[in-house]
Amino acid sequence: MCGIFAYLNYNVSRERRYILEVLFNGLRRLEYRGYDSSGIALDADRTAPSSSSASPSDAPYAGAPPLVFRQEGKIENLVRSVYSGQFSFDLCFCPVQPSAPECFLAQSGILAASREVDEKDVNLDAAFSVHAGIAHTRWATHGVPAPRNSHPQSSGAGDEFLVVHNGIITNYEVLKETLTRHGFTFESDTDTEVIPKLAKFVFDKSHDEEGDVTFSQVVMEVMRQLEGAYALIFKSPHYPNELIACKRGSTLILGVNELSGQQNGKQFHDVKTLTTNGKPKELFFSSDLCAIVEHTKNYLALEDNEIVHIKDGSVSILKFDPHEEKPAFVQRALSVLEMEVEQIKKGSYDHFMQKEIHEQPHSLTTTMRGRLKDGGVLLGGLKEHLKTIRRCRRVVFIGCGTSYNAALAARPFVEELTGIPVTMEVASDLLERQGPIYREDTAVFVSQSGETADTLLALDYALENGALCVGITNTVGSTLSRKTHCGVHINAGCEIGVASTKAYTSQIVAMAMMALAIGSDQISTQVRRDAIISGLSSLPRNVIEVLKLDVEMKELASSLINSESLLVFGRGYNYATALEGALKVKEVALMHSEGMLAGEMKHGPLALVDENLPIIVIATRDACFSKQQSVIQQLLSRKGRLIVMCSKGDASSVCPSGSCRVIEVPEVADCLQPVINIIPLQLLAYHLTVLRGFDVDQPRNLAKSVTTQ
Ligand code: F6R
Repeated sequence: MCGIFAYLNYNVSRERRYILEVLFNGLRRLEYRGYDSSGIALDADRTAPSSSSASPSDAPYAGAPPLVFRQEGKIENLVRSVYSGQFSFDLCFCPVQPSAPECFLAQSGILAASREVDEKDVNLDAAFSVHAGIAHTRWATHGVPAPRNSHPQSSGAGDEFLVVHNGIITNYEVLKETLTRHGFTFESDTDTEVIPKLAKFVFDKSHDEEGDVTFSQVVMEVMRQLEGAYALIFKSPHYPNELIACKRGSTLILGVNELSGQQNGKQFHDVKTLTTNGKPKELFFSSDLCAIVEHTKNYLALEDNEIVHIKDGSVSILKFDPHEEKPAFVQRALSVLEMEVEQIKKGSYDHFMQKEIHEQPHSLTTTMRGRLKDGGVLLGGLKEHLKTIRRCRRVVFIGCGTSYNAALAARPFVEELTGIPVTMEVASDLLERQGPIYREDTAVFVSQSGETADTLLALDYALENGALCVGITNTVGSTLSRKTHCGVHINAGCEIGVASTKAYTSQIVAMAMMALAIGSDQISTQVRRDAIISGLSSLPRNVIEVLKLDVEMKELASSLINSESLLVFGRGYNYATALEGALKVKEVALMHSEGMLAGEMKHGPLALVDENLPIIVIATRDACFSKQQSVIQQLLSRKGRLIVMCSKGDASSVCPSGSCRVIEVPEVADCLQPVINIIPLQLLAYHLTVLRGFDVDQPRNLAKSVTTQ
């Protein structure tokens, strides 16, 4: 939900085109987090350097307002606008008031001084040795998608302070009131706008009272006033060659390319610790790792209240304490990113969702890699806590959306293998009810992104109540993985399609391994555990098999293309499959769909059944099979339009009359069957979306990580 990105280089001669492309690409990688509008700001160099003579004098000089471009809609709108010079006056904040194309020309230096704006006039090849740009892609929370609500948000005329923000400022109304009293006028409906205005207020005041004030002093004072969650990047023409980033609550990653400098009198190169005297060639800030992997593998996940101050290419990290006058300098070790660039590219697929569905044999393999050992399960992240979990009073699963569904799929086997009662909580509902969580509980938080606001707030709540908190997440370095006591990374690889697919199956498998590890001290379930472990080993093979239904699911999708609604009935292990299948259809294909517990059918939903409403019944082999057979009969006797999912070879048992459409899937260990069964439904949702002409990877109104409540 909103993505922020920044790029700064030092002592590398780079063309403007390159700088812009780095910013645009960063935004493209983060677009899945929000795609209502976007914007960038970069230095307005007023010198005219030649590409061969880059020197520090190429740096933008103080007072030159940065170039700011903001545009509604997808990132490509912004890109087109910047390259074509089609920015309207509103989007271009000029100190003088020329007409729109002139404004763009005058400010950017990108275009030759011509009113004819076309590609041949663009001079993107001027090279500069110092350059900083910030960028933002937005998922609207406060204010409609519109240029004035897009980021960077500004302190006002001259753009003395510009800010990109991910998160939410909870006390923005109070701050807005105060700043308005001090003469500030607000142009947007965003909570963010108070931040650059507050920075200007602090800057002006400190300047008047004390003379010089550093950029980090300004930002620290701003942080003192802000409440809520945020990752922020500041840029200001008062501090050319400087950039400040800080965070509290929201995630912020710093990527470092080729760090070199002097340490203990010796020259070092590419060391793994950020010190105040290290000078990287290029630095990147990003809301997640996906946007930096193509530039560098050295990164740092910033901690809450850390401020990164980049000045003349040097990086300082300060730890902010609201009660201390002066911040402490900290040294942080860089981590090495274990992600390949291919993960963030579509390759030969048309959409990320399609790629991620078809990737599942591989993602499940990586989830299990090195963890199924000597007939048992080894989960390093849980090892130390297994005894405590075994003694707990109950397991509480907490998550939202697909992650909640994955936990629901895991619930039966966690109860069976551990003997511990499991309760389910949708994170927002737990918070609204202030439901009881006890010291004796193990609270398991499931989240692909590890950044979902409701899940994180529920985590804070469980921590306050003294529960042991376990994280199941796909995102190394995420807030969830940092704040929980222990946990399992699902290692499914970067998931970019907004609809979660491969993370869902990997979450189930990670929780199956967790249940096996917790229950490993129980002799009575040894045979069952062995069967599940063997089922896990052969799961990727069976996923390859079930993916062969792709063409069949496309045909099924074309027969459902004009339906208004779709019901999915499941029970037992596959109640979650019904919920998750229906969620996929509604979120991407924009078709009403409900997943229902088949046992509840007679208590109301049966009234909906007629010959038009398509109903999917999941009737694969498990202890509920015969019950599902009778559900099918009851639906058929009411002329229901049935699509039955069954185990291979069971077509005639589930539909003796031959009057239903049958999807046959490979049979695996009953508790792992949800991993197989969801895949045809993912494929169905995908094809339905394509056939209905909707956006697969960026469904209407949605964003990948929901970092606001
Ligand atoms: C649906 C989907 C969402 C997420 C939910 C929680 O396809 O992706 O329902 O599952 O927003 O997100 P995470 O798992 O990141 O906490």
